[in-house]
Order: sequence, then structure tokens, then C-alpha cells
Amino acid sequence: MIYKRHTVTAALPYANGPVHIGHLAGCYLPADIYVRYLRSKGEDVKFICGSDEHGVPITIKAKKEGITPQQVVDKYHKMMGDAFKEFGISFDIYSRTSSKIHHETASEFFKTLYDKGVFKEEITEQYFDVKANQFLADRYIVGTCPKCGNDNAYGDQCEKCGSTLNATDLINPKSTLSGEKPVMKKTKNWFLPLDTMQPQIEAYIDSHKEWKANVFGQCKSWLNSGLQPRAMTRDLDWGVKVPVDGAEGKVLYVWFDAPIGYISATKELTPDWELYWKDKETKLVHFIGKDNIVFHCIIFPAMLMAEGSYILPENVPANEFLNLEGDKISTSRNWAVWLHEYLLEFKDKQDVLRYTLCANAPETKDNDFTWKDFQAKNNNELVAILGNFVNRTLVLTHKYYQGIVPLPNEYTKEDLVLLEEISKFPVKISVSIEHYRFREALGELMNLARLGNKYLADNEPWIVIKTDEKRVQTVMNISLQISANLTVLMEPFLPFTSKKLSTMLNLSGNLKWNDATRTNLLLAGHQINTASLLFDKIEDETVFTQVQKLEDSKKMNELNSKSEIPNSKSEITYDDFSKMDIRVGTILEAEKVPKADKLLKLLIDTGIDKRIVVSGIAAYYKPEDIIGQQVSILVNLAPRKIKGIESQGMILMAENNSGELRFVAPIKPDINNGGEIK
Ligand code: 2FM
Ligand code: ZN
Repeated sequence: MIYKRHTVTAALPYANGPVHIGHLAGCYLPADIYVRYLRSKGEDVKFICGSDEHGVPITIKAKKEGITPQQVVDKYHKMMGDAFKEFGISFDIYSRTSSKIHHETASEFFKTLYDKGVFKEEITEQYFDVKANQFLADRYIVGTCPKCGNDNAYGDQCEKCGSTLNATDLINPKSTLSGEKPVMKKTKNWFLPLDTMQPQIEAYIDSHKEWKANVFGQCKSWLNSGLQPRAMTRDLDWGVKVPVDGAEGKVLYVWFDAPIGYISATKELTPDWELYWKDKETKLVHFIGKDNIVFHCIIFPAMLMAEGSYILPENVPANEFLNLEGDKISTSRNWAVWLHEYLLEFKDKQDVLRYTLCANAPETKDNDFTWKDFQAKNNNELVAILGNFVNRTLVLTHKYYQGIVPLPNEYTKEDLVLLEEISKFPVKISVSIEHYRFREALGELMNLARLGNKYLADNEPWIVIKTDEKRVQTVMNISLQISANLTVLMEPFLPFTSKKLSTMLNLSGNLKWNDATRTNLLLAGHQINTASLLFDKIEDETVFTQVQKLEDSKKMNELNSKSEIPNSKSEITYDDFSKMDIRVGTILEAEKVPKADKLLKLLIDTGIDKRIVVSGIAAYYKPEDIIGQQVSILVNLAPRKIKGIESQGMILMAENNSGELRFVAPIKPDINNGGEIK
């Protein structure tokens, strides 16, 4: 079917933490590649996303940080939106579900279903935490999954096996608020009758056998176990109020309101929003991670069917999960690469991460991100293949022709075969992208660069220039055409690099995907601009630092996870001198920082926790002499990177008469670690 327009959504992330590489690889990057490609094809497309600001994940975070849910979402909504922008994720809108337009849209949607008599209103017994005086929905309750035995399944979903659950399905349920065993208490809720809707839903899923095997398979397995009615309301106070009488103190289930967030964001974006949601000639595609499959393939379509005026998702290309250095990415264990931190260390290298995450995307199975592989992908592929080809081409063009594109002379038989082959790349890459095989698409893009490299190596213009200048003109012209085509075709994957190369080649910004089927984008006589390297090598030391940082974080986590002692005071700066939190601590371990004469890396027991501090004392103390030494440590100084190591605090030192530094320590060693210095 030929569509007139496209609505592409990327899962609304919970606004309860910064964005990490798992998010990017799971759905935002593939969605962005897809949308950039569609735009380059000249298609009418709206790319929709925003923050999911309701639900228990937000209220749990608020409790943990000691702030209100609104403060949580305000903080992270901005941070997440900024991170996406920095990585070139080109949403047409990044909205939020706490907005007025969303509350109105979600309310109206619920009311429509309510008025149509879709919901089953039922009084059921739900878990209640007597101590916290609260019903326990979703993530407020954990227990053993009845399907896979995972001990940490939530009240609405088991993240291990992906099953959707009702809180009452859990074995040995426990409140996450008080840790207590909950009691049962009667309450009224409104249920979506997925059981009676099963035939309709089944027919819809069966009409999409082309979906990715992981997605189709999961849907079939839920259908085979028989769909159950599901409550669309919750006894909570954070969320969209249930807009019917007798529902005081209740809000919409976050998984009812969140997907409607796609609709409200489109409304906010354009007055034509209905075209993007109700016209049969619109193709609706949801990019998500695998834990969201049931909500996007079964529950949301059921809601849309029940409402009646909407189109249904045409495809839901869900990715599996990305692991990090062989271990599951975990926010609570700080086992993650955060986008905002990546940018501090790898400024202007957004495309290197985009490339690595796409080349390694967890499209059909969980995959692993390792820093070693990141380095290899950069050095052996981006630098050695793509960068090298483009650089040689541009440098030689400047050297031989002062940056002016030479006229091609007679083509050889091999040239003609190559030109023919080049012109096929847009279609080859299109086929992969349109089937959501982004790794394969990226592989094809690199094959074009490989062809270019091989062409230069086979034709050796730097040697032939001495004997046959005319031949070199042809070789350089063809190499320049390949570079121009690469600029167009790399844009969805490597938008920053594409822009840079486009400027170097002095290309018109209006080139579209299909222009890359031509092999004459650069006319003879066209002046190109100065060349600079597209990518630079990443050294061993740089990635070693990253691995070290992860290992340190793991070690700290293990050491601190057993501690019952609460966290230190909140972070301060030098200007907040009076707020300093200084404690007595003891050095547990000390070692020299490689390639830094003045620095020692110390593991300090501060009494509060165990932590790493990098201190400039190597000239005054030998590591082996200071194990067991008591010190004074400023514990609430903002962490700082010193030689790539995160230093969490500062040891207080005093200068002796000769200008040497000495520890400031308690005179009598009868002060325990953690003793506060006032
Ligand atoms: O898993 C999540 O992070 C959810 N906040 C995704 C919601 S997607 C959509 F429905 F909004
Ligand atoms: Zn399970």
C-alpha cells in the first residue's frame, strides 16, 4: 500500500532519570534513522515523542529524592529533551504528559469509551498498604512472577519474562513503600474487557505476520494464554484524574494515558493532527523496546479499536535490550553510559556513538556494548574506511586541482560497472530501512565507502598522476561522486558527519535520497571547500578510562550496597563554603595514577561509605605508607573527573614549613570514621 503520510512515534520515556545508551539503541536511534530517511525521500512525516510523566516510576523517584513528582518531571523532562537534541534525534515535537492538552485529550478519550459503555465497572479486592495508607498498584508492589519465577516482578509487569500481570497474580507480594505484606481492600475500577475483544485483536495481529518475529511471537503467546480484562484506572493521586463521577482519588492507569500522549503531542504540533491519526492513508509506526510490546500491540490498539475513529499501528518494530560490558544496564547500580556524560568526554563525537549503537543494535536478540568494540568501530571502520576514503579523495582533489572537480575523461569498462553499482545503493539501503533492518542498512552504506576505497587502491591516482593525468581526472571525478552520494546516504545514520562532509564538498543542502541514484552530483568545475578529517582515532587510554570508570562504579556499588548508613549531605561548590560536610575517614587502599606524577588514587572509608578520591599528594606520601592513615575529607564536594577517574571528595591537607603537604588528621585516634568536623 502506498501511504500519503507517516506518523512515527518513539516510546515516551519516564521522566525519572537521564537518558543512557540503552534508550538510544532500543528505540530513539532506529526511529530517528527511519524518520530522517523518510524525510530524505520527500515523505510527509511527523516524528512524535515526549516525556511520560505519570505513573508509579515518577512518584517512587520523588520519594527517593525527597521532592515532589512535579519537581521530578520538570528536572528530567528538560534533561532528556536536551540529550536527545544533542544526539540529533530529530523529533518534530518532544512534549510531556503533564501538559494541559494531554490531560484534556486523555480525559476525553476515557470519557468517550466510558460513554460508549466499553468499560466494565467492577469492585474488586486490591492490595493495600496499611502502614502507608495507600493502594498498591504497579511498581508499588513486587513479588514472584507466576510465569517465570522472577522474585522482583512488578504489580503490572514482569521485566524478566515480559508478561503483563495484575498485582493479584504475584506470589508473595510485598509493598515497595513499607516492605510490608499488603492486605486486601475493596475498591472500584474501570476495566478494558480485553477478553471479549480478543477475536478483534487476534484478527488484527494475524493481519500483521510481517512484523518482526520477536514482536509477532510475543503477541501470539499472550493471545494464546487468553487475554484478561485490565483495569484502566488506579487508586493513586499522581496522574490524569478519572473524569467520571464516583472516581475521586483515582487516576488513569499510566499505560492508558501514556500512548494517548502520542496523540496529544501531535495535537500540540499541528492543527492537522487528525490527518496523522485518523486517515487510512497514514502509516502509523511505533518504535519501542521489547518491554513495551504488549502495551503497543495489544492494549493501545484495543483502546483505539474501542474508540473507533482512529487508525491502528501498521508496525511496531521493537528492539531487544542492549547490555553493557556483559551486564544488564541498570540505573540503580549506575551500570550505564549516560548520554550527558558521554558528551563531556567525547565532545562532537555523537556520530561515533550513533554508528556503534546502530552497527550493534539489538534488533533480533539482546546485544552487548563494550568500549573496546566502540573503539574498534571508530578506528577500524569510521576512520579506516569511511574517513580514509573521503579524506584521500578531498586531499588529492585539492592537491591536483586546487579543489575544483575535474572533468571525467573516457570511462573504462570497470568504471562503468562501478558507476552502475553505485547507483543501486539508495534502493539497497531503502529496502533494509523499510524492513527495519538498520544494521544491514548501515552495513550497505559502509560497503559503498569500501567500494570507494578499493577503487582508489586499484587505480592508484597518486602513482598514475606521473604518467596519465587524464586518467587521474576520471578516477578523481568518480571518487568525488562517491563522496557526494555517501553524504546523502549517510545522513539518516550520521547526520553530523553528513553535514560536515556536505560543507566540505560545498554541496547544495537540498539533495534528496533519490538523487544518490545519480553519479553526477558534483559537476566538473565545482569548487569544494577545505578538507578536514571526518573522524579521529580513539586511543587505548581513552577507552581504558571508561572501562575503569564502570569498574569503579561497580566496586563502589558492591561495597555500598551492604551499608545501612544514609547518604551524605547534598552536593556543594566552593562558594558554598559554609555548607561543607567534612568527616574523618581512613585510607583503605592507595595506588599511583598511571601517567600522573602527582596523583594518588585513594579508597577512603568515610564512615558514610567507601569512595574513591584522587589526591595530589604523590610527591609527599608513598602509597604503602598511608594505608590505615586517618584523614579529613570534604565529602559533599561535587564529583570531579581527574585523569578520567571520578574523584568523590577532597582530602584536606596543610602545608608544613617547607611547603610540603601533610594530612589534617585528628590528633587522638579515638574519633571514628564518619566523625563530623565542625
Ligand atoms: O517504558 C517506558 O519507559 C514507558 N514510559 C513507555 C511509554 S510508551 C508510550 F506508551 F507512551
Ligand atoms: Zn516473569
